[in-house]
Amino acid sequence: MGFTEKQEGLVKESWGVLKQDIPHFSLRFFSLILEIAPGAKNMFSFLRESEEIPQNNPKLKAHAVKVFKMTCESAIQLREKGEVVVADTTLKYLGTVHVKSGVKDPHFEVVKEALLRTIEEAIGEEKWNEEMKNAWGEAYDQLAEAIKAEMKNHH
Ligand code: HEM
Repeated sequence: MGFTEKQEGLVKESWGVLKQDIPHFSLRFFSLILEIAPGAKNMFSFLRESEEIPQNNPKLKAHAVKVFKMTCESAIQLREKGEVVVADTTLKYLGTVHVKSGVKDPHFEVVKEALLRTIEEAIGEEKWNEEMKNAWGEAYDQLAEAIKAEMKNHH
């Protein structure tokens, strides 16, 4: 079965919650990434420079928001078109940036886990359920596949 209107609604609804406190959820997202994969720290310019995860760092927030927002956009596309289409220029840029930063395919699973846990915390245990997890998971996976495929052209 394709991506349903209900799944799209679930993703949009929880993105609405994340959006209300970007500084907090961005920080949480990165804390979880480093909790799952401490080695990831050295790939991010803004994490390399300090011991602690910097509060209110614009680059940190930008990356978190890109991941949240592009996954949400992917959910919309999955429902509308049945596939994720990232604009060509954006995809090329994403391919280059990630290859240059030393990102490897397995890192996408780390970020997925951190993303799902951040959303779970944001919307609360009572409202979080399998359906929501799968909707975000599917939208993220398809976006990640597109980026990983592009990365293969940039080594
Ligand atoms: C940079 C998006 C997954 C590590 C960037 C940039 C974008 C982006 C747009 C350019 C800088 C910016 O505008 O903030 C995404 C999206 C992802 C994703 C949409 C998944 C769907 C990952 C993963 C990793 C990663 C899995 C590794 C754990 C990095 C690093 C940079 C970067 C290290 C360079 C940032 C810096 O040092 O300033 N990403 N990314 N990204 N990304 Fe990702």
